[in-house]
Amino acid sequence: MNAHGITIKEIANLLEISSTTVSRVLAGHARKYRISQKTEELVRETANKYNFQPNQVAQQLRLKRTNTIGLIIPDISNPFFANLARMAEQELRNKGKMILLCNTNDSTELEKETLSLITGRQVDGLLIAPVGQQGEHFKMMKGTPIVFIDRYFRELSIPYVSTHNENGAYQASKYLIKKGHTHIACIQGLMHTISNQDRVNGFLRATAEFHLPEEQVNLLGDNFSIENGYKSAKILLEQEDPPTAIFALNNQIAIGVLLAAKDLGKVIPDDFSLISFDEQPYFQLTSPPITTISQPIAQIGIEAVKMLFKLIDNEKVENQLISPELIERQSVKAI
Ligand code: RIB
Repeated sequence: MNAHGITIKEIANLLEISSTTVSRVLAGHARKYRISQKTEELVRETANKYNFQPNQVAQQLRLKRTNTIGLIIPDISNPFFANLARMAEQELRNKGKMILLCNTNDSTELEKETLSLITGRQVDGLLIAPVGQQGEHFKMMKGTPIVFIDRYFRELSIPYVSTHNENGAYQASKYLIKKGHTHIACIQGLMHTISNQDRVNGFLRATAEFHLPEEQVNLLGDNFSIENGYKSAKILLEQEDPPTAIFALNNQIAIGVLLAAKDLGKVIPDDFSLISFDEQPYFQLTSPPITTISQPIAQIGIEAVKMLFKLIDNEKVENQLISPELIERQSVKAI
């Protein structure tokens, strides 16, 4: 073991396995090489316990700074993340940094592999919007300054900048209730992510506060996709007693709802009202224009870059949740 922590070879000797197996586990390839869960856990525990540093050489090089920041997002095809990446890149460029942009396709396995690849590239720091369903593998990222953007893990010590999702969803739900809706369906996104959990909590806080009958508060769906929005909306709108309002927990789900309404010949807001979490430019162009909860994307990007630079300079940072804004248009009808 050297001053920086245990080496791969030493982990292998301790556990009486090959260095190749240890490297494969630490690179996030355990499943790919059919390494048992037990071996994977043993390797990770030992690496954690003896302060394994992925690459001491990279550690030294990092001290010389490479002027490159890793930016990892879960879905580059989603305008929310595309805009977030653009804002962060703009702010980083203003500060003379280049970005190494990686997309993880909402796959935790791909995220693990990306993390191990990117730390070998001597980036000065990482801005990550994690897939958000598992956070264990981030504990291995010692030595690399990281800031979570958008999604994060309260149980990890990695700082974050995000939207106040619970507050935003509460605002949206209260807005529907104040318009007279008491039968409301919420189509949720990717399960177990903090964005989704907090939005569902905000929705349920509002429906409980205004004593909506439980049987008139529907929650369905399971990911942030157009397909999930479409399928869920069809189920809801083909019911005998359909909801009078639908709350879509992100932009893609809302598009799915619009497509389902079109296929079923339903008119918004005459047949049902729609509000979407996530503002998108095209929501002004739809007929009717959609009422949304707008996330402060620019502010999140700028604040996250500022926070990362403080981390790189070993300064203290505070987590930030920034309040979103309700943008009222014509997709919600008073009843
Ligand atoms: O569209 C993807 C959603 O998940 C966005 O609302 C964003 O907040 C992310 O967490």
